[in-house]
Order: sequence, then structure tokens, then C-alpha cells
Amino acid sequence: MNSVIIPAGGSGTRFSETESKLFYTLNEKTILETTVETFYNHHLIDEIIIPCPLNEHRRFEDTLIRYTSKLILCEGGKQRANSVYNAFQLTNKNAKNILIHDAARPNITPHLIEAIINELNHHPVVIPAISVTDTIKEVQGNKIIKTLNRNNLKAVQTPQGFHKSCLENAYLKTTDLENHTDEASIIESIGIQGKIIAGTPSNIKITHPNDLAILRLIFGM
Ligand code: CTP
Ligand code: MG
Repeated sequence: MNSVIIPAGGSGTRFSETESKLFYTLNEKTILETTVETFYNHHLIDEIIIPCPLNEHRRFEDTLIRYTSKLILCEGGKQRANSVYNAFQLTNKNAKNILIHDAARPNITPHLIEAIINELNHHPVVIPAISVTDTIKEVQGNKIIKTLNRNNLKAVQTPQGFHKSCLENAYLKTTDLENHTDEASIIESIGIQGKIIAGTPSNIKITHPNDLAILRLIFGM
């Protein structure tokens, strides 16, 4: 059985100070629905667990009414990792694989979901990533400390895939959950190396308004 956790418990402050970014529209649906629908329609996904802000629970329920048969909503946490942890507690006891995918990445393809699940037959942790095209420098304030070797750098995306047993073990051992910006990093902290597979460049995370403008172009709006 395959479960997906779709963290949606953030407030999207870099996008807007007033309205949650997940309720902006893309292709006549909200960003939230666009993301959830791809997982809902996927034959390999059995359940969808979404941590969301407690005060927006009703709005999420109403917006996602069409997907109720696979859906569980729960309370988000202070940081993304806390939200995912809350959702993890509710995964079905028969779940073997857990996928974790940002609600703010609506251009996820069925193909990438399938590739992650297939690779979980061979590895306990599977992470999609793309090559970095900019030169990345380590800095302190405005001062350059060093230039990193681009050949050793990847930009990681979601969905990230895990054997449930492996993620459970990492949660038991970690002592600084809220400091991790993705679950792959929690796994690394207990010494397990994830397998990288090719992500897709258009699997953009909507962080700033400009990201939505780019995705609207991709969706032909
Ligand atoms: N997220 C979450 N719980 C939190 C913080 C974030 O579930 N406490 C979710 C967001 O809703 C988003 C995903 O994690 O789908 C990736 O986070 P990010 O893009 O940083 O979104 P926000 O935290 O909402 O935005 P910002 O950091 O600009 O406030
Ligand atoms: Mg954030």
C-alpha cells in the first residue's frame, strides 16, 4: 500500500501576506486541487494525508470535497517537518511506502510518481533531483566564502519516497525534527543515503508570485 503526505500547513508568507498561495488558481482549479488531483487519480496511490492550518480546516475540506474517498486532513505543525510528522502518525498501518510531496508543487506528473514508487522496490529512500545550472557560492552576509563545485550539487524536489519502516526509525532517532527542511535530511542525519533519480525541471515549487506566473505559462493560461 502506498500513502502520500501532502504538507499544506504553511502560511505562504513569501508569496503573500494576506491570502494563502495554495488557493490561487491555476488551470481553473486552485493550486491545492491541482496537486491533490494528480495523486488522487493515480492508480498506485491508496491514501492522501494533508496537514493544514487548523483555522483553515473547513476551507480545505470544502475545496477538496471531490477527493474525499482517499483523503484524511489533519492539523499542521509549527514547521514543515512537524506537519509531515503529524500526518505520518495517521498513515494506514498497512502502508509500505510513504511519499511526501509539497502542496505548493502542482506540476507533478503521474510519470514521476510512478518512477519514485518503482525505485522504492530497490531502495528505502528515493529522492528526485535536477542539476544546478547557476554557480552556487557559500556566503556569510555579503561576503563570498567559497565557490562550490557545481558537479557535486543537485537541487532536490518532491515527491520524496520512503519505506515507512525507514522513516519511522529516523523519527525515533532524530532530536531536532523542526530543523530539517525535507525528510531526506532527517534520513541523512541517521546515516542512510537516499537514491537520487531524475526530477523534472518544470516541477516548480511556488514560493514567490513569479513562480506562479511561470507555471501559468506552462499550463497555457
Ligand atoms: N508547510 C507545512 N507546514 C508548515 C510549513 C510549510 O505543511 N509549518 C508546507 C507548505 O504548505 C508547502 C510546503 O510545506 O506546501 C513547502 O513549504 P514552503 O514552500 O516554504 O511554503 P510556506 O511555508 O507556506 O511558505 P513560506 O515559507 O513563504 O511562508
Ligand atoms: Mg516555508
